[in-house]
Amino acid sequence: MGLALIVHGGAGRFVTARQEPAREGCRAAAAAGWEVLRRGGTALAAVEAAIIVLEDDPEFDAGRGSFLNAEGRVQMDAGVMDGMTLDVGSVACVERVRHPVVLAGAVLRSPHVLLVGPGAEKFAVESGIPLCDPAELVTPEETERWASGRGAVDDETGDAGGRGQHPDTVRDTEHGTVGAVAVDGAGRLAAATSTGGIAGKHPGRIGDTPLVGCGFYAEHPIGAVSSTGDGEAFIRMMLARRAAGYLEAGLTAQAAAEAAIRVLADRVGAQGGLIVLDAAGHFGCAWNTPEMACAHISEGMAAPYARCGDAADSEP
Ligand code: GLY
Repeated sequence: MGLALIVHGGAGRFVTARQEPAREGCRAAAAAGWEVLRRGGTALAAVEAAIIVLEDDPEFDAGRGSFLNAEGRVQMDAGVMDGMTLDVGSVACVERVRHPVVLAGAVLRSPHVLLVGPGAEKFAVESGIPLCDPAELVTPEETERWASGRGAVDDETGDAGGRGQHPDTVRDTEHGTVGAVAVDGAGRLAAATSTGGIAGKHPGRIGDTPLVGCGFYAEHPIGAVSSTGDGEAFIRMMLARRAAGYLEAGLTAQAAAEAAIRVLADRVGAQGGLIVLDAAGHFGCAWNTPEMACAHISEGMAAPYARCGDAADSEP
């Protein structure tokens, strides 16, 4: 196998009306990433291109359309990894960046690994990435969600919707964290994940998304992984690296994804999903939420195959 790419738009409860837009969004993102690979671009460039599409799509909890925190502000996290060099770039709690994945990519190309908040935004300016008005990232739907208190974190327990639950994965969320993994023509692997985090989160809260080995991971010649779900649980389990470990142990990409989700449920009672790609371009995708939005494409396919709940393309 050669080129391959898979994207996700979160694992959670996608109400019926949201399944088709989520599927369409994933399909568009996969097509954008595939175009980069097809033209000879790197896996890293491909996953960045795919995530940019998802960050622009308000169907997803990333970039524009991110959930609002307890103060009604967007605070976003993103991470990228090049599996060949093991270079990592992450940003967290950024509020004025239209495409956090682009800023994470700039961090990857710098001596840094993780930059947060105003320091990350200062680095954006230094890197020639323009800052945006935070209001550009806020959608009327999320303003309404915030004003109504839907998805807010429980004040008593700190949980979102009950222990082990998470508004990104369980409640009426309709959309989620986004991610992409790819392998290019030179066999290079890359992973990227981007999120607005959980609805009503405490200001400054950072989940798994920008943490290498938790929300994303890529390592040549093992594979690449992107996660979505209960961020605190994914951090405790270092789930992306754990899934890569299953690949290393000889499991197929699908079996590795399923094993990681099983251990997430069994060990910490949490919910979520992940996408896995091995170095040969085989896909895996598993979740223990009602639905997960994802799309994949590899050589020999005329177009990406996308699905979310009952909305699915015919079999590739
Ligand atoms: N999985 C995304 C987050 O918990 O922030």
